[in-house]
Parts: sequence; C-alpha cells; structure tokens
Amino acid sequence: MMPLTIGKHQIPFPIIQGGMGVRVSAANLAGNVALCGGVGLIATAGLALNSPRYTGKNFFKADAEALKDELRKAYEIAPEGIIGTNCMVAVSNYDDMVRASCEGGAKIIVSGAGLPMNLPQLTADYPDVALVPIVSSRKAAELIARKWHKNYKRLPDAVVVEDPDTAGGHLGEKLENIGTGDYDQYATVREVKEYFHDKWDTDIPVIAAGGIWDRADVEYALNQGADGVQMASRFVCTQECDADPAFKQAYLDCRKEDIGLVMSPAGLPGRALKANIDNVRAHDVDKGVRCPSACLKKCAYRDTGERFCIVHALDRAQKGDRDSGLIFCGTNAWKADHIETVAEIFDELFGEIKYQQVSGK
Ligand SMILES: Cc1cc2nc3c(=O)[nH]c(=O)nc-3n(C[C@H](O)[C@H](O)[C@H](O)COP(=O)(O)O)c2cc1C
Repeated sequence: MMPLTIGKHQIPFPIIQGGMGVRVSAANLAGNVALCGGVGLIATAGLALNSPRYTGKNFFKADAEALKDELRKAYEIAPEGIIGTNCMVAVSNYDDMVRASCEGGAKIIVSGAGLPMNLPQLTADYPDVALVPIVSSRKAAELIARKWHKNYKRLPDAVVVEDPDTAGGHLGEKLENIGTGDYDQYATVREVKEYFHDKWDTDIPVIAAGGIWDRADVEYALNQGADGVQMASRFVCTQECDADPAFKQAYLDCRKEDIGLVMSPAGLPGRALKANIDNVRAHDVDKGVRCPSACLKKCAYRDTGERFCIVHALDRAQKGDRDSGLIFCGTNAWKADHIETVAEIFDELFGEIKYQQVSGK
C-alpha cells in the first residue's frame, strides 16, 4: 500500500478519517488518527454547542473559537500529524468555519454537503492548506474544477467520492435514487480520476468513501482505482471517538435492518439509525422548540417547522441521548461488535507495515 500525498502533505497511510458532526469526530479522534499516520478530520458542524465559550446567544462566534480550540487539542495529541477539518457548505457560517480552519492550522479542508464553489477564495491566504471537495458524481467534480480553474486558477488537491448507497450522514443524491442499484461507486471513482487526467493533465488522488470497513475493503478500493479511502463509521466504536459511550453502544446494539434514510431539514437525505426517528421529530415539534441559531443556510425546520432541528438532534445523540438524538451511521455500523482503539484499527488495516509514530512523544 502506497502512502498518500494530498497537496503538500504526505500521509503515511492512504486513509482519511471522515468528518463526523456533531462532535463525533472532534480533537480526540482526529488527533489519534493523525498520530497513527492517517488524516484526522475534525467535523466543524455545531462545535459551539458543547463549548464553554457558548452563552446561548453567540453561536457563530463560539463555533469558530471552539474549532480553533479543537485544532489546538488535536495538535497536542499529534504535533506533527496531518489534521484537517470537515466543513459543510450547507451551514450558514461555512465561510467563517473555513477561515477559522486555516487560522487554527488545519492542513486539509474536506468539504461537502453542497458544492464548495468559493473554497479557494476563502483560503487564498493559506496556499499550503489542501482543498478536498466531496462529490458523488463526475458531474459535480467537473462543475467544481471548471469554476475553481476559471475563477481562482486552482484545482482540487484531491477529491473524495462518497457513495450515497453506503455512507453515513448527509448524502449527495436524491432520496429516490438511493439504493436503486444504479450507482457504481468505483466506476465513479475511475471517472473522476480520468476526468482530471484527461481534461487537466493531472493525477490528483481520488479517495473512495462509504461502506469501507476492513482490510479487504481497503484493498478492494485500492484495486478498483482509488488512491485512498475515507472511513467514518468504523471509527465510532473506538475508545478515542468523541461521542458519548451511549452513542457507541447504539452502534454495538444495531442490526442491519435498523439502519435507514431520513430527510434532513437541510433538504438532503441522511443515513441514520431509524428506530427513534419519530422521537427525534417529536422532541422539537411537539415542544414547539424554535430554531435557536439559524445554523443552516436553508432549513425546513426554521422555515416551515417541518422535520426537526438537526444540529440539536445530532448534539443530543453525541451527548448520549438515544431516545431523541439522531444517530447518523453508514450501512456497515451493524458490523461494530466491540470497542477498540484507533491503533488497533490501523494495525488491522495496514498489517505488518509498522505505523510510524508521527509524534515525537
Ligand atoms: C456519525 C456520522 C456523522 C457524519 N457527519 C458528517 C459531517 O459532518 N460532514 C460530512 O461531510 N460527512 C459526514 N459524515 C460522512 C462521513 O464523513 C463519511 O464520508 C461516510 O460516513 C463514509 O462512509 P462509512 O461511514 O461507511 O465509512 C458522517 C458520517 C457519520 C457516520
């Protein structure tokens, strides 16, 4: 297995730990993944909600400051590690969270839940920060590349191709097109790779995300043409994952048939544990909870009172509320059967290749 180079950054193992909001991947998980030689991503969505800086009224300011706090903590764990952030285009404070990522020292920004059209502009003062859009189709990759090249003379440093049929969290495909069998994850990976090769004469890394769990899956992804993998659900049941033990227990307890799709108020479908979805909705709708922070650019809950407040539903789940919290997960979550360490996952995935301690500690 080859190391991965994304922009100016060398990653000992070809793996990115997928961003998991709200605070499922924060400093501890990201720092420990980076320490083991992968890319550790802090999910930036909703960080304010658990920050001592949040007064209940200063969501956006506290969110950006909380992100810098998390980056600092992650670098305490892995001072030399490749630590980045996951920024969702759909959030109202996207621009600020991208800027805060750069100011806080993120080396890579992975960005999806919408097309990150202005990402190069926001990061122009930080040319070493690698920019990595998440797409689910060649068409989306083309739109981004054309716009970035035309407006900013820049191309992505890598692209994550996320499979809507298997990934957790928000998905980049219409609800009715998910699970039809029409989507071909690795054909899409190869198409995106070919597009950059043929059109732009560059071989940027294309990273496969969704449904990758064990070493055989990683080898399969690489054999199918991916340069690396992004894995998220597998890292939930680690000691280092930042979610409450009850969140991890929900993964340990779930069966295949407990995992399903839910429409998010952001207008995108999401994959989650579905047993408690009625309670997730009821928590806000029945109690007449108003939108507290306008955290999304477009939100069905804020605009029409439909569905639920996503940032608080995810926040409750992260704090261990299995009754009314929204537990995002990929289709493989049922495979989790014990709590392990991040280092154990790296040992399993990368076998005898001794992982290099990237920290001097
Ligand atoms: C709990 C959870 C939260 C997630 N939150 C985010 C997020 O905030 N932003 C994002 O771009 N993707 C998010 N994702 C998607 C992952 O980063 C990743 O691409 C996907 O889950 C990969 O599939 P896997 O879980 O089968 O490995 C989330 C996934 C999970 C399981």
